[in-house]
Amino acid sequence: RRIAILASGAGSNMVAIAQACEQAVIPASIGLIISNVPDAGVLVRAKNLHLHHCCIDHRQFDNREAFERAMLLKLREASIDLVVLAGFMRILTDCFIREYYGSLLNIHPSLLPKYPGLNTHQRALDAGDREAGATVHYVIPELDAGPTIVQGKVPILPGDDADSLAARVQVQEHVIYPQAVRWCLEKKVELRDGEVWKNPLFM
Ligand code: GRF
Repeated sequence: RRIAILASGAGSNMVAIAQACEQAVIPASIGLIISNVPDAGVLVRAKNLHLHHCCIDHRQFDNREAFERAMLLKLREASIDLVVLAGFMRILTDCFIREYYGSLLNIHPSLLPKYPGLNTHQRALDAGDREAGATVHYVIPELDAGPTIVQGKVPILPGDDADSLAARVQVQEHVIYPQAVRWCLEKKVELRDGEVWKNPLFM
């Protein structure tokens, strides 16, 4: 099977997933990396890993739908089976989501349903939480609200700031995202009637 990764930033999650594919931990190959940000670190890393990559800059399009159609065309051309959002900072409309519904994942840097949206680590610190983490979920039209596949938890330590906490959470992200991608491709989990169905054959 063929995976596409959509990212806007540094791409550390992309690298973790690409390495898991390389090591056959994930039974798939990376078909395409798309970034909406021309100078994003993820494109440099994709180049260094000799992965097919392209920039589809949302600012070049008149509206959200035109931007998404451009991405959908590239994904279709690359025969992509599973789309993985990894720090992709554009909200996707139903038009895009319906094309990959059930094969579209996202990772969010909080223990959803706490802290959907941005600045998740600072919000957890400000709330005096004792733990934080990341969530991999199926993407549905409502932002950061799709059913959870897996979460990774870390302690919040005295003296933590948003950066130190983000770094600790990212270590977990690089563990749980490859795991979630593998479970989806193995049909260990599936999105059924808006819920995560866990295949009893794997339990
Ligand atoms: C991750 O922290 C992820 O949780 C959030 O954006 C960040 C992406 O980091 N959605 P990277 O670009 O994968 O390094």
